[in-house]
Amino acid sequence: MLARQLGAWRPADSRRPSYVALAEAVRLLMLDGRVPVGTSLPSERTLAGALDVSRTTVTTAYADLRESGHLQSRQGARSVLTLPVSVASEPTDEAGDAIGLNIAAPSSPDGVVHDAYRYAVSALPPYLTGVGLYPSGIHPLKAAIARRYTARGLPTSPDQILVTAGAQHALRILLDALVPPGGVVVVEQPTHHGTVSALQRHAARAVPLGLHPETGWDMDNLESLVRRRNPRMIFTIADFHNPTGLLLDAQGRAEMTRIAARRQVPLVVDETMVELGLDTEAPPPVASYGTNVYTIGSASKTVWAGLRVGWIRADTTSVARFALARKDIDLGSPVLEQLAAAYALDHLDEFLPARRDALRAQRAAALEELSRRLPEATTVPGPGGLCLWVALPAPLAVPTATTAARLGVRITPGSAFTVDGAGQRHIRIPYTLPEPILRQAVSIVGEAYRQAAGGGVVGDERSLGLVV
Ligand SMILES: Cc1ncc(COP(=O)(O)O)c(C=O)c1O
Repeated sequence: MLARQLGAWRPADSRRPSYVALAEAVRLLMLDGRVPVGTSLPSERTLAGALDVSRTTVTTAYADLRESGHLQSRQGARSVLTLPVSVASEPTDEAGDAIGLNIAAPSSPDGVVHDAYRYAVSALPPYLTGVGLYPSGIHPLKAAIARRYTARGLPTSPDQILVTAGAQHALRILLDALVPPGGVVVVEQPTHHGTVSALQRHAARAVPLGLHPETGWDMDNLESLVRRRNPRMIFTIADFHNPTGLLLDAQGRAEMTRIAARRQVPLVVDETMVELGLDTEAPPPVASYGTNVYTIGSASKTVWAGLRVGWIRADTTSVARFALARKDIDLGSPVLEQLAAAYALDHLDEFLPARRDALRAQRAAALEELSRRLPEATTVPGPGGLCLWVALPAPLAVPTATTAARLGVRITPGSAFTVDGAGQRHIRIPYTLPEPILRQAVSIVGEAYRQAAGGGVVGDERSLGLVV
């Protein structure tokens, strides 16, 4: 079986040792997802026979795989393919061994990112003849992003796209361009933590538009805030909102763009979650309902946050202006990552359905575990996204989070998602981890709440680490 999957593994260059080529081919099969991690390899004698090579070649190849951490051998048992520990457990923050419910981002889909980078390396040579700086992004990626908008009902040309290093970077560029320091920004509450921190850093005056846990956006309230506060920006996550999962319907989109247009307030729509509809699809993009709309997108939730690729969609004049302003922050995004993102975006429809299925199952598991461990808690019934926004029976989010950290789970209290310190009653539970570990984490959070409710826990939100 393995011999067949290995295909044409033999080195084309006769100076390259056969064992190196064999080890490399086995590694690739696993990293591509064609052979699962945990697969037992055939004995050295069997594989040598099947490949018609000397046993020494296989023995040395296995030793090479062991050395690089891709093969684990136990006395008397077949060797098993593994991922090197240093790669699998590279810490993303200071959480160490704790379970990370502080991060709402899935790992990369099987094989896709690896394929994307392989494609990127093969497509790179023509770029090497230039200096490699593209302030608005490389054409193939801008074209791939534009195609997706056009397919969603919003005709878009590549020069309406500015490629950024993720959605967070995109927001910083837009704040720099559109909001003077001290300017008012109307932002729904709760909102993504990165939005809260970007607004703080920009010294913007954030005015919250409270989201109703069932009905979502209150347009009368938005209209009144816009009239009274004269904002320089309205910021919304209209599609499977982080952290609630709520979705703004078509009528709400029309209404919001009308309110923004009437007072000529730039409307910034963060579409990072738009492809993660679990119970329904999103209506057409908010930008298709009016003008003066700036749309932020990202490959972080659909493909992989490690790509660090996001974008802004706007009119061509604004994109040219942002590209010019961007050089004060950075000179452009890495070409290799952009090529990989272009490949992955063009293949999204092949792997997103499986990602959505996995998220649905994980969401169901988290809800079930929550109803068992914290039956008095309630959640927002958002139809997609990556998170549950959980209302605790009492305003104990911070002591619950600090206790959970002591019990081995990093979780973020609701105040990290508000611009005015509210949210003491809420915690956010992302359902991006695999089911068994997710269940374990939710059950620990339930225990943490009970301990916090028992009293004596002093909360300190500053110690709670990275929030994504
Ligand atoms: C709504 C929203 N915007 C932006 C971001 C940041 O995305 P990126 O990794 O593209 O910077 C996130 C990540 O959680 C998010 O949920």
